[in-house]
Amino acid sequence: MMNILVTGRLPEEIMSRLTADHTVTANTLNAPMPGEEILQQIKDKDGLLCMVTDRIDDALMQQAPKLRMIANCAVGYDNIDIGAATARGIWVSNTPDVLTDATADLTFALILATARRIVEGDRRTRGGEFKYWGPLLFLGAQVTGKTLGIIGLGKIGKAVARRGRGFSMPILYHNRRRIPEVEERELDARHVDLKTLLAESDFVSLHVTLTEETRHLIGAEELALMKPTAFLINASRGPVVDEAALVEALTNKTIAGAGLDVYENEPVLTPGLADLDNAVLLPHMGSATLETRTAMASKAVDNLLAGLAGETPPDCLNCVQY
Ligand code: DGY
Repeated sequence: MMNILVTGRLPEEIMSRLTADHTVTANTLNAPMPGEEILQQIKDKDGLLCMVTDRIDDALMQQAPKLRMIANCAVGYDNIDIGAATARGIWVSNTPDVLTDATADLTFALILATARRIVEGDRRTRGGEFKYWGPLLFLGAQVTGKTLGIIGLGKIGKAVARRGRGFSMPILYHNRRRIPEVEERELDARHVDLKTLLAESDFVSLHVTLTEETRHLIGAEELALMKPTAFLINASRGPVVDEAALVEALTNKTIAGAGLDVYENEPVLTPGLADLDNAVLLPHMGSATLETRTAMASKAVDNLLAGLAGETPPDCLNCVQY
């Protein structure tokens, strides 16, 4: 029997897989567990199942001499200091694959919502502004046939590309490394440098992981390369975009609009962002379907239980180094 801390609320049937054989301390609220509480609770724990909102750093691991397994309930893991975990012999896992489609669906919803002014249209209709149909009213941008530029053509990026193909969109992509030619053909995707992608795309969609290299990958200079008719979509991580520079570009209409699911200082928004009609703002809900969140929780539990049993967790991020 091991001691486990679960920092987020999980479906009952999934929690019962942990409570069957282990002593579990769990957050039963829908709000994140405060950092100080995690710090207190972690002291005697062997396993941690944590959320994307938890900062799991070396200082926290230092408080947890028994900790041997951290299962992040997210595909991204920039919230965890993997180097520190590895140095302390703690395994870390994430939840890849199961959220690919939900996140790609939401990305495409942002593309459609920004281009076709869906949120603004809903707001104005409820506000009594739909008085008549007019040929030049509520004009947006066409999506079908426009160029989709994907920065970070990994699993989610490819799923977005496939959806783009359904809308007859030519696909440009930028990756550090090109994907195999057979996949490029299947997706009809052309590899280009970042500047070309920014200059030629009608929709620029970000799907990179957050690292020191990708922090502020899109800043004032990059936004200035985009067409004034183009849209920026971000369902990856907020700090990939310099949000102050984005607010300026949206305010001055040097780009047409932005669809954001993530923010630089989440959940706080850069001043001015919430006032812009040409931005669609969502509360980091890319993976938020019941099916996907259940599958993520289940995967996190699989990893946690395997790690605590001394088996290599299926989605281990740092096991190869032992
Ligand atoms: C992830 O999994 O990294 C998302 O941001 C949260 O679902």
